[in-house]
Amino acid sequence: MLDSRKIGVVGAGHIGTAVIGGLVRAKLTSPKNIIASRRNTGSLDDIAGKLGIHTTSDNRKVVKSSEIVILAVKPINAREVMSEIKDLVTPQHIIISVMAGIKTSFINSYLGVECPVIRTMPNTPVLVDAGATAISKGGFATDEHLKLALTIFKSVGSVEVVPESLLDAVTGLSGSGPAYVYMVIEAMTDGGVKMGIPRQIAFRLAAQTVFGASKLVIETGKHPAILKDEVTTPGGTAIAAVHELETHGLRTMLINAVSTATVRSKELSKIIEENESI
Ligand SMILES: NC(=O)c1ccc[n+]([C@@H]2O[C@H](COP(=O)([O-])OP(=O)(O)OC[C@H]3O[C@@H](n4cnc5c(N)ncnc54)[C@H](OP(=O)(O)O)[C@@H]3O)[C@@H](O)[C@H]2O)c1
Repeated sequence: MLDSRKIGVVGAGHIGTAVIGGLVRAKLTSPKNIIASRRNTGSLDDIAGKLGIHTTSDNRKVVKSSEIVILAVKPINAREVMSEIKDLVTPQHIIISVMAGIKTSFINSYLGVECPVIRTMPNTPVLVDAGATAISKGGFATDEHLKLALTIFKSVGSVEVVPESLLDAVTGLSGSGPAYVYMVIEAMTDGGVKMGIPRQIAFRLAAQTVFGASKLVIETGKHPAILKDEVTTPGGTAIAAVHELETHGLRTMLINAVSTATVRSKELSKIIEENESI
């Protein structure tokens, strides 16, 4: 699907570089079809050395030499970068944005071009090809453009297509979700340490438990409640712990965490679009 189409990444930081790495590892395109930019030339040399792609500190060169342009700078740098490239963007360009909180309609109006824009919300596990990414198409994008973004992001994990109105909720769930899980791993590790397990062993056991439980959910497709029931022997240890977690409202806390993060995402999106200084 990508054939020899030229792909450019503006803002080759964590997410941008992870996506390039995914494309290269999955052999979806030749590294020679990819060009990436950022300001730090030392980091660009590292990326070029590791991935064999073209790099430049000139964002305009990226847009000039690419058909598909992935915008991966922080939202705070979005206006500056879009101002820099806007006169080069044509209706033939396909813009894929990973920038949190920036609507496709805002990108089209800021660039002043009716080009296809696909908005994505990945998460940091894209760094290890285990990301959860949601994607949405803007007003000028077609299902073909959506498929293209699907192909790109599948190289770094799983992808869900959602209406753009759900991307704030996705930010609250999977975009911010790794932070919640890291807290769970950290706390389970501390629990193990409290009970006398050396920290490094406790840490590996906790992380592998989260990984293994997730793998079982995904691979069996079983409802998590059924898998939980399978672990809880009558009168046993797991049900005693489940009771403790229920007493302290673990599930309510996580539901609240997702909804609070969703509200914050909506607030930030508004600030980004309304405030010239952000
Ligand atoms: N991290 C997450 O969990 C996550 C999840 C979902 C979405 N996102 C979105 O992904 C985007 C990137 O996040 P990230 O975590 O990858 O951030 P990051 O590592 O800071 O990457 C952003 C890159 O943009 C470059 N940059 C800044 N100003 C630039 C300019 N004027 N021209 C060209 N490059 C410029 C920076 O490099 P230089 O300083 O060298 O220029 C930096 O490497 C953000 O918009 C964020 O909202 C992140």
